[in-house]
Formats: sequence, structure tokens, C-alpha cells
Amino acid sequence: MAANKKLLMLPGDGIGPEVMNQVNRVIDWMDKTRHVSFDVSEDLIGGACYDEHGESLTDKTMAEAMNVDAVLLGAVGGPKWDNVERFHRPEQGLLRLRKDMDLFANLRPAAVFPALAEASSLKPELVAGLDMLIVRELTGGVYFGQPRGIETLDDGSKRAVDTQVYTTAEIDRVCRVAFEMARKRQKRVTSVEKANVMETGVLWREVAAAAHADGYEDVELSHMYADNCAMQLVREPKQFDVIVTDNLFGDILSDCAAMLTGSLGMLPSASLGAPDESGRRKAMYEPVHGTAPDIAGKDKANPLAMILSYALCLRYSFDMAEDAGLVEQAVRNVLESGLRTGDIMQPGMTEVSCTRMGEAVTEELGKLAG
Ligand code: IPM
Ligand code: MG
Repeated sequence: MAANKKLLMLPGDGIGPEVMNQVNRVIDWMDKTRHVSFDVSEDLIGGACYDEHGESLTDKTMAEAMNVDAVLLGAVGGPKWDNVERFHRPEQGLLRLRKDMDLFANLRPAAVFPALAEASSLKPELVAGLDMLIVRELTGGVYFGQPRGIETLDDGSKRAVDTQVYTTAEIDRVCRVAFEMARKRQKRVTSVEKANVMETGVLWREVAAAAHADGYEDVELSHMYADNCAMQLVREPKQFDVIVTDNLFGDILSDCAAMLTGSLGMLPSASLGAPDESGRRKAMYEPVHGTAPDIAGKDKANPLAMILSYALCLRYSFDMAEDAGLVEQAVRNVLESGLRTGDIMQPGMTEVSCTRMGEAVTEELGKLAG
């Protein structure tokens, strides 16, 4: 067996630690049953880190993140830190991780579990079988563009500036990831921007088309304005295979796509950097959901998005597709058996705690691995 795989766990705030505990359960199971060992280190991020160190991510943790094979992140933020100055806000730790690790490609799959089609806010027939992937640019755009800030004008009123900025290289590399992903799926990419109003949209469309022409003609590329895309997502979501879009549009559209699946609590994500000489990509895996402060500490959270994020980690960082598939199948089976956390509760099903859901997944793994 090769050297142990190094994982850094950053549970974060709110329900983050609770859902991460359930991943630990799965990791223990894999260690005992599949003889796959991880060197797991754990550290603070977000508000929890701010409370301890006065900043939302320490240099030491950042260095550790650069050094491991993969980072698993819970969630950051919460009302407790609403009045902390922006530079130290919990979200900043997460943004720094993304930026410094250069995790430019954020994969946000939105797939409907058959057992949950009824839990969607759309009619079941519109979402049954839905399986799409949003590839969100994660290290550029208005999240990081300069100049930014709020200044006070001579008359005492204020003026705020954010800058949306993209270079050819930034657009090109994320579009290529989308084309590669599409090749393993239905080979259709929709590139989303607002080229009708924004200069970055004009460049985005041009670079997406050029990247496509450079070796990806087997993939079908179409272009769509972001507002239309939001509308199409709730009108006929199954028309999409892969959507590639910028940081801000991706943030918004992925929440919308997530809700189509019945619960934000179900969706994992992977954030990947460029491959190094050995083909390895820096990577971070996190659920799409947030910290859910209203249920934090009550053992009510849905741990499935976190567990599925770990499955993505097995697949993309460790080339363990078989084990990833096992974990995903275990989750499907547990849902089929009727267990539900509160967020996906339906009539006739059995409501269980976060802990119980995690246990049920490992029990199911035991059965599957026979
Ligand atoms: C997300 C979140 C983050 C974002 C926040 C927590 C900074 O909404 O990952 O979608 O806006 O990117
Ligand atoms: Mg978001």
C-alpha cells in the first residue's frame, strides 16, 4: 500500500462539526473493512477559528492545506459573526483557501435521488432523473476583483465598488474542465454569462467558443444569458447536462439547481486546481449547504451532502471510483429504506437524527461490502 493519504478536515461552524463526525464514521469503516487508511488532521476555520485566534484561517492551517492530498470542509459562518469586520469574517477563511490553493474549478452536481423526487419544490415529473453538473469558476470575478471598497464622498454619502474581472486564461481553463466533464456525461455544455450587458460576458463567450474549437468539437456547446438560465432551471431543468459559468452566477445558479433536487442538504461539491507534473490536482470537498445555525448542535442536520463530498474526494483525489460508488450506493439504499433527516422528511417516512443517519450509512456499507 502506498504512503497514507493525507486529509485535512476543517469542520467549521454551525452544523459543520456534526456532519463531519459522520464522515469520520465512514472513514473508520473504510479503515477497518477496506484497509484504506488516511492520515487525518483536523483544524479550525471560520467563526470557530476567529473565536480562538482572531482570524478566520491561520497561516499554519493554510500551510497544512497546501501540503495534504485533499481538504474536507464542513461549512462556515453564522449570525454570531455578523458584526465582525469583513476582513475577518468566517467566509474570508474559505475564500482564502480557494484562492491560495488556486481551486478554480468548482464542480456542483445536482442529481435527484429517485427516493427524493417528491421532496422537490417542483413537480416530480420535472425533476425525476435530473442529473446535471454546474462547473463554477471559483477564484476570479467579482469575488476577488480590484478595486473594491466603500468610500465616503464629500457630501457624507457613500460609494461602494466591486469589480468583475476575467482574463482569457481564467475563462479558458474552467471551460476546458467543463468540456472534459461533459465527455464523461451527455457531452453537452451550456456556457452562461450576460454578454448582452457585461464586457466580461462578451469575453467569456468568445473564450468559451475558442476553447471549444480547440479540440472539443465532440462536445456540443451552447451559450445562454444568466437570467434566462435561472428561468430555464425552474422551467425545464432536464435540458441541462453541464453548465459552465463565472463565480457569482455560479454561486446563485447552483443554489437554485440544488433546491431542485429536494434538498440543499443532499449536494456535495468538489473544488479542483490545475494538475501538477504528476497529474495531481489540489482539491477541497465541501457540501453546498451552509451552517444552518437554527438547527446547529441539535443532532438534526442532514449529513448526506458531507458524506457524498467525501465520496467525491475518493473519486477525484484518490482514484477510488469503486469505493466512491459504494458510499453513493449506501446513501441511495438508506434513502430507499425510508430514513430521512428533517430537511427531507416526507409523509410515511421515518425521521432520524444526524447521528442515526451516519450510522445507517455505515451499516449499509457493511451490507454492500458483504
Ligand atoms: C458557496 C457559499 C460561499 C460563496 C460563501 C460562504 C462565501 O455561498 O460556497 O456557495 O459565496 O461562494
Ligand atoms: Mg453559495
